[in-house]
Amino acid sequence: MEITINRESKTPIYLQIKKQIEAMINSGKLPPNFILPAERVLGGRLKINRSTVIKAYMELKAEGLVESRVGSGTVVLAPFSKDGIQEKMYVPPLRWNQLESRRVNKSNEQTINNILSVFEKEKVISFASGVASEDSYDMELLQSIQTRLLEKHREKVLMPTPVDGCSELKHTIRSYLQQNGINAGTKQIMVTSGSQQAVEFLARLLIEPGDVVLVEEPTYIGAIQAFESYDARLIGIPMDEEGIRLDILETCLVKYRPKLIYTQPTFHNPTGMTMSLNRRKELLKLAYYYNIPILEDNPYEELYYEGEKLPSLKSLDNNDYVIYVSSFSKTISFSLRVGYVVAGENIINRFIKFKQITDIQTNTLSQYFVHEFVAHGYLKNHLEKIRNKYRKKRDLMIAQLNKCNVEGMRIFVPGGGYFIWLELPNNIRMNELIKLLGDKGIIVMPGDVFYPKYNIESNFIRLNFSYPKEQDIEDGIEKLLDCIVKCSNSNVKVGHPVETVLNPYL
Ligand SMILES: Cc1ncc(COP(=O)(O)O)c(C=O)c1O
Repeated sequence: MEITINRESKTPIYLQIKKQIEAMINSGKLPPNFILPAERVLGGRLKINRSTVIKAYMELKAEGLVESRVGSGTVVLAPFSKDGIQEKMYVPPLRWNQLESRRVNKSNEQTINNILSVFEKEKVISFASGVASEDSYDMELLQSIQTRLLEKHREKVLMPTPVDGCSELKHTIRSYLQQNGINAGTKQIMVTSGSQQAVEFLARLLIEPGDVVLVEEPTYIGAIQAFESYDARLIGIPMDEEGIRLDILETCLVKYRPKLIYTQPTFHNPTGMTMSLNRRKELLKLAYYYNIPILEDNPYEELYYEGEKLPSLKSLDNNDYVIYVSSFSKTISFSLRVGYVVAGENIINRFIKFKQITDIQTNTLSQYFVHEFVAHGYLKNHLEKIRNKYRKKRDLMIAQLNKCNVEGMRIFVPGGGYFIWLELPNNIRMNELIKLLGDKGIIVMPGDVFYPKYNIESNFIRLNFSYPKEQDIEDGIEKLLDCIVKCSNSNVKVGHPVETVLNPYL
């Protein structure tokens, strides 16, 4: 391979080398698989720096004329085929990491996806999800609603709806809210693709990188992810038996001047806690005093297993400080993806723009399905049925957990919702436990995912009781306890774990 260099030329030396090799390849003088001299060798031969040869070879690579092969060096590739694409052309890999915008939070957090992927697997007992059990439905009723919609209302259900939701459903939500003490006009209501979408919209609206959001600690993972995806700084406020600690909250209001307080006052996910009425009123007063909006996330309100409902923050708020989100995911079905947000018209108008960009509108068929289900009174009966069912499952799970004989366990008994928050001995080897459970086909949510970013070591797990079948609760909890004993350094004791009943009527 003969190369000559003209040091007087204006063409840089690396380009002279590149052009000569290119010409030799195109003329066939250097056949496919010909190995070019090593950079150091050619550099020595031409009395030039090795880096100049490297640069020339990189140009040839970028044009797909040669490629580097481990063990061989730089090798000539086959020429262009008829369709213009080289048979073994070198295509540099796309550097997606470098293409991603700075806006993107680079975390690869996939907890929700991991939980939902379980539903495609068989022979797994999942205590990790947050969905209804399939056997809680009256299938004939569901089918009849679906058939009616498709037969009688085809002109509506196969068509688009306004971005903020179809007016029938909005009116239905409006009267439902009215029965629960929330007076909102239809312009203050927007239907969203699950309430998760509304949480994300509010994060999008309010959060600049570094803005502080105060949250209960622990809190719902989807909210953590939504706020953190806009680089919010989440400050966790601990809870006591009446809900979020207002003394600590107030200190943080003064210290951080947060953009928002995010709270789930009723059957909190993951702890099952319910904020007392007095605490609700005091929380509102603080928000008014410090001029900070509240996002009230309330998807579990209807799932109470004893006593009565407490008024929502939104129903107590006469000053439009509370943005209220809720959903039919927990009461009808997660898969419909129908949630809603109640807020001032100015905020709803902003959200309409976000929704246009994100998914244009919530699935039409789902919207009409929910409308039929609620407006025709089916929801009321369905709620009675699932309350009984879930109460039974909750009690069964607690009875099973009480069979444990390891010291240092505490069961948080919820008055409603989907979850039992379980404190394990504080010297539990959590990673080992999750792995051992996985091997036995049992999935639980480890507590640490419910804490904002700072790597907390949690000795809690969250157990869902709405989804698993009763038999699975019996078998699964027995195996869980077995694994806890194996992964615990605590003494095996005679007796029961401590129960903390979370009383919503304080
Ligand atoms: C507290 C809380 N908020 C919001 C959501 C999201 O629900 P949706 O299915 O309506 O998006 C969930 C779901 O688990 C939740 O637990």
